[in-house]
Amino acid sequence: MDARSLEESIRKDIENAANDQALEEARIKYLGRRGLVTSLLKNIKDAPPAERPKLGATSNRLKKLAESLIEEKLTVLRAAQPASRFYTPPHDATLPAHDGLTGHRHVLSKVFGEIKDIFVGMGYTLASGPQVELEYYNFQALNFPDEHPSRDEQDTFYITDDMLLRTHTSPVQVRYMEEHKPPLKIIAAGRVFRNESIDPSHAAEFHQVEGLYVDTDVALADLKKDVEIFIQQLFGSKTQVRFRPSFFPFTEPSAEVDMTCFVCRGSGCSVCGKTGWIEIMGSGMVHPNVFRAVGYDPDIYSGFAFGMGVDRVAMIKYGIDDIRLFLGNDLRFLSQF
Ligand code: PHE
Repeated sequence: MDARSLEESIRKDIENAANDQALEEARIKYLGRRGLVTSLLKNIKDAPPAERPKLGATSNRLKKLAESLIEEKLTVLRAAQPASRFYTPPHDATLPAHDGLTGHRHVLSKVFGEIKDIFVGMGYTLASGPQVELEYYNFQALNFPDEHPSRDEQDTFYITDDMLLRTHTSPVQVRYMEEHKPPLKIIAAGRVFRNESIDPSHAAEFHQVEGLYVDTDVALADLKKDVEIFIQQLFGSKTQVRFRPSFFPFTEPSAEVDMTCFVCRGSGCSVCGKTGWIEIMGSGMVHPNVFRAVGYDPDIYSGFAFGMGVDRVAMIKYGIDDIRLFLGNDLRFLSQF
């Protein structure tokens, strides 16, 4: 084949290549190891010396021509292909899904949800009150005498002389009774504040759930029954409950409630300090002075109240050893629940 028809055939073949494969075939036909242009170049050394320079120039020109035409044609073919042909990642159904960060409820609100569900199932309804509270509701109406040391027990953040951050949820009892007539059966939950020295079991902000039941003829036995049902629903039916005499200005008699340690079931371990018991809430029969403060006749009505720390319940339930973690906003902690 002379140089002229070789050039023609190169142009024609490359021009007519309809896809990558046809183009690759054309490349092999001319530029492959045994390709027509390649052989031409190889044969130069066998040609008579006088013809070699011309032959060399022609074959080099044809080689360059073929290369650049192929390059051009490749661009044309690529442009004509749909984008998906350029990058088609293999679909591997066994690859793990992207672990997207989704939000979820805070552990304290989950635990409160459980507590609430149990009490609602027992006929309690929800009540609430303000976090910035009057001294009257936080102390006075709850039978804390003026200037009495019992006020110092709850190190209080005062805002003004008669306004403070509530130190417990018990003021909600008073507010609710002012607005409603017995019978009533409520729980109230929320954040409380105490000027504590901070350590693994003390925070300046924590959470309580308060319970109050008032009717005619409410007895201590009713308190014991409701508290026992609650604890056994939350911690298991084998949990035992005991009442220990205590003091609160707004209840009489008053009792701390202990339950058998859920870890050792009462035999003694590090969680319960080897006693087998864990303190879970304060409770008692509503003091007649509290009824008087809200205009209830203590000769007609009686009632019980109890209060517990939600943080503490969550710590017991999940084996958390530092109360400061709850409001620390560390996702490594929060995402575990
Ligand atoms: N308010 C008490 C406290 O914060 C708990 C309590 C509530 C005790 C209701 C008795 C009755 O310690």
